[in-house]
Amino acid sequence: MTVQEKIGQMCQLNLVSGPVEEAVLEKIRRGEVGSFLNETDVDKLNALQKVAVEESRLGIPLLMGRDVIHGFQTVFPIPLAQACSWNPERIREGASIAASEAARSGINWTFAPMIDISRDPRWGRIAESLGEDPYLCGVLGAAMTEGFQGQDLGQAGCIAATAKHFAAYGAAESGRDYAATTVPENELRNVYLPPFKAAAEAGVASFMTSFSDIDGIPASGNDFLLRQILREEWQYPGFVVSDWCSVEQLCVHGIAEDRRQAALQAARAGVDMEMVSTTFEEHLHNLIETGELNESEIDRAVLAILTLKLRLGLFEQPYTDPSLLPEPGNSDYLNAAKQAAIESTVLLKNTADTLPLNKERVKHIALIGPLADDAYEQLGTWVFDGEIGFSVDLLSALQKTHGDDINIDHVKALETSRCRNTSGFENALAAAQRADTIVAVLGEEAILSGEAHCRADIDLPGAQPQLFDALANLAEIENKPLILIVMAGRPLTIEPQYRRADAVLYAWHPGTMGGPAITELLFGDAVPSAKLPVSFPKVVGQIPVYYSQKNSGKPPTPETVIHIDAIEVRAQQTSVGNTSFHLDAGHEPLFPFGFGLSYSSFEYSDLHLSRTEMHAEDCIDISVTLHNRGDLTATEISQLYIRDKVGSLTRPVRELKGFLRNEMKAGERRTIVFSLNAKDLAFYGRDRLLRAEAGEFEVWVGGDSTTKLGSKFLLLESVRVVNNNFNNKNNNTSES
Ligand code: GLC
Repeated sequence: MTVQEKIGQMCQLNLVSGPVEEAVLEKIRRGEVGSFLNETDVDKLNALQKVAVEESRLGIPLLMGRDVIHGFQTVFPIPLAQACSWNPERIREGASIAASEAARSGINWTFAPMIDISRDPRWGRIAESLGEDPYLCGVLGAAMTEGFQGQDLGQAGCIAATAKHFAAYGAAESGRDYAATTVPENELRNVYLPPFKAAAEAGVASFMTSFSDIDGIPASGNDFLLRQILREEWQYPGFVVSDWCSVEQLCVHGIAEDRRQAALQAARAGVDMEMVSTTFEEHLHNLIETGELNESEIDRAVLAILTLKLRLGLFEQPYTDPSLLPEPGNSDYLNAAKQAAIESTVLLKNTADTLPLNKERVKHIALIGPLADDAYEQLGTWVFDGEIGFSVDLLSALQKTHGDDINIDHVKALETSRCRNTSGFENALAAAQRADTIVAVLGEEAILSGEAHCRADIDLPGAQPQLFDALANLAEIENKPLILIVMAGRPLTIEPQYRRADAVLYAWHPGTMGGPAITELLFGDAVPSAKLPVSFPKVVGQIPVYYSQKNSGKPPTPETVIHIDAIEVRAQQTSVGNTSFHLDAGHEPLFPFGFGLSYSSFEYSDLHLSRTEMHAEDCIDISVTLHNRGDLTATEISQLYIRDKVGSLTRPVRELKGFLRNEMKAGERRTIVFSLNAKDLAFYGRDRLLRAEAGEFEVWVGGDSTTKLGSKFLLLESVRVVNNNFNNKNNNTSES
């Protein structure tokens, strides 16, 4: 390969719709392009592959990228919703279906999973994330990777995945997208990096750098991140693609004088392919000629890129034959999307068993709100290829399934979620007056979350709060059940509505089959099992609020937390608080991480440890009795949390270290067992080494992160987790 051809492999260009320009075809013929993104017409992609394979000197096929974030034509719930399933199998299935539909269009590379830890619902991209917890995000991100890539990337229907955005993108200041992050190294290593390590261990084909300025060094020029962590410590064999123009943006950040320096910084740091901007094409050749950049550096990059093309089987078969793959939107795919939406919808409240609705008793439902009949908005963000014709909204699903026996009386009341024109309220209240059950479907349009779509106020937008209050006033007077269904791309501050509703189902943006899924949940043909992967703040001022907080030196206690309205006039300065909480919001979220209700109820008891002391090489089993106390079969997601009481660094008051899904019959009791080893207890300590430190650990098991059923054990000696790259098994070494 000539230097120019090598550099060509490191360049990715965006294709806009319409005929491909001759200049682009010429670039392919000269071997100056290694990849395109955003073209999804299979005939065009085959034609481009043909030019690359038959009309260029080396005949190297092209990587064809696309953001297949939560589905292609069949749209699954947004990733934050899918994370509520705590079901790796379900997530793997969804990614596999998305890969098959995308591959059928000629796509062979997706920019997903997005595994940024997200603890700020103001940030629009929390919608694309798998939530606030490193362990859960790691398990589910690995499952999504496996779903996209299958057992063998060369198999039809499998596409390469990308772990993004490396790293700490979710820590953007004030939840404002692209804003700087300030993440100290121990926080980076113990919170933001673990999901990426899990994706690397799952064999993810590529990484994508984030737009973020991380402690003053943007990710696309950050050699600590890309070289020390990713290549030296993890020995990651894949390649790194920049984010959209993030290499030329090094000039905008003010870390590179000009495009030439930006290209040098990025190439030296370890960016192997430049997405859309063209600083590599413009400057790498000269940088090699002047010796500022070693050709060996780009050889490594090119080898990683060519290796992926080889693994994808592109050298043998660069062309796509759609007939080899299932039709998009087939019944199996739609059923999988429906099941995913069922397992992603969280029951947050169910006073007096308002739900499930009784098919015999309910005769007239007032279905109110701007999102009840909108098959587009329920798809959510990042749905470029979503087939709206497949999408079934809630009104249609209710009418189809129950319309013969129940009057589904629909009033939009507001044109959109942002609408402030209340002229539709009168009709809505009239419908509520006529009905025996009121179902309000409120939330956010899809455009209010996703990239660059951040909100400083995360209440229900528009006049929706007023609409809900009007319905709640009527429901109280008429003594009618009021059910709130929320469709949104983030946790919203819905405490006022939560307080007044009889039942709350949080459906997020549930995707193509949102309507049928919610219909089944409303009438008990499906039972909610979802649990939150992210904490819900009471008010936006609490952010960041998440379960695995540090204890601080003055943690809140029931005795010290006082509400602003309860403070006596002229109270003494030191008589109030002196611990860590907000006078007007306390210290707890509205809903904690791991929370979710069922139509049944589960009880945990008899927690038992297999040992109360463990050596570095031991395992410890934690067993409990789980009892389905209800009168129906239901699934419970049981969670295991630990706390390292004393460390070389302060440790979170709780950390998720395991979860189990159990479907149980009415009345059934089952002993469930978790297992922990020293690696599970390890963290990067003050010396930046991964180690489980000797001392006392607390452990809890329950149905959410506030469970009190716990015990404790002692780790008798510290132990380092060495060779922590994912190629070799961790062989721990004890330390005295
Ligand atoms: C965007 C996003 C990234 C996406 C890329 C290509 O700006 O940050 O997640 O994969 O560009 O669309």
